[in-house]
Amino acid sequence: MTDKTILRALRGEVLPTPPVWMMRQAGRYLPEYRATRAEAGDFLSLCYNPELAAEVTLQPIRRYGFDAAILFADILLLPQALGVDLWFETGEGPRMSTVTTPAELAALKGKDDIHDTLGPIYETVRILSRELPKETTLIGFAGAPWTVATYMIAGRGTKDQGPAHALKAADRATFAGLIDLLTTSTIEYLSKQVEAGAEVIKIFDSWAGSLKGQDFEDFAVEPARRIIAELKARFPGLPIIAFPREAGEGYIGFAKKTGADCVAIDNSVSAEWAAANVQKDGCVQGNLDPRHMVTGGRPLIDATREVVRAFSKGPHIFNLGHGITPDADPENVALMIETIRKG
Ligand code: CP3
Repeated sequence: MTDKTILRALRGEVLPTPPVWMMRQAGRYLPEYRATRAEAGDFLSLCYNPELAAEVTLQPIRRYGFDAAILFADILLLPQALGVDLWFETGEGPRMSTVTTPAELAALKGKDDIHDTLGPIYETVRILSRELPKETTLIGFAGAPWTVATYMIAGRGTKDQGPAHALKAADRATFAGLIDLLTTSTIEYLSKQVEAGAEVIKIFDSWAGSLKGQDFEDFAVEPARRIIAELKARFPGLPIIAFPREAGEGYIGFAKKTGADCVAIDNSVSAEWAAANVQKDGCVQGNLDPRHMVTGGRPLIDATREVVRAFSKGPHIFNLGHGITPDADPENVALMIETIRKG
């Protein structure tokens, strides 16, 4: 049995101090990240350069000693490996060629044809599993099928996921076919990450909150359940974190329904509420408001202590409720960690 703190929390242990890492911990708020990204040329070149992607993954570990490192990559690399064009518009975010017709769906590659494109990502994982400090857990990840599909259908990020909801209503077969392809190819993608050395897997469903009622069951719960069941069949004991962001009441029972070992909580619900309703089923991760990384000071200290206190009776991994933003002050991250570890 290993003693890494994150793995202990994921097994259900209540630790005196919660282990901590941050979504987007390797990112633009760090000057050393911006320098390495400039060396790579742009964000996508950085993702596909194993030496430099490993370097930016390690930067926040060296600076802060986080308990986990998350592989540096992006959830939109999988659609790219399936054959869509992907690029990032500076200051605007991702752009992609769209998939909205049966012909466009049929033109995508199959689930087993993604590894040539994604090979450099597996190499990044191999480098990290050699170079990380022995106490640091390596987290691999993918987007959940619904969230990835929202980008593929719209060709960009959308506020309300309107185009994806529209396709779901207008052409259920094409929509469901896309979700199915993403589910099976995500299983293959994540399996390769585990074989390369990822110790924990996280599934990001950033737009789960816009699925309501039966849609939430069919397109947030069911794909996660299939991915988790197959990964656990292939890799018994593999710990998996699910993040159905802004699921609200949908967080309740999500771990039981999907088989996830841990549910990550965003900051639209209180830690108090999540402790009572979600942590009763097992480990939770979260959920400090990322704005505190910008504003800092006494409110940061108080809010950090409140998250630690609210989750202190059950297994907990400290994290933000969403990714740290580029305008965050690196000093505030240090203050958060000091507050968690020194009380
Ligand atoms: O957390 C980590 O540091 C690991 C690496 C990681 C990135 N993106 C790096 C990244 C992870 C796990 C992701 C997940 C991701 N990517 C999600 C799900 C989580 C979430 O944030 O809700 C989504 C929706 C994406 C798609 C994506 N990638 C968007 C919408 C954008 C543009 C928005 C932005 O923040 O600029 C990206 C770009 C991106 N992915 C950056 C990073 C560090 C910024 C790129 C840059 O350096 O310019």
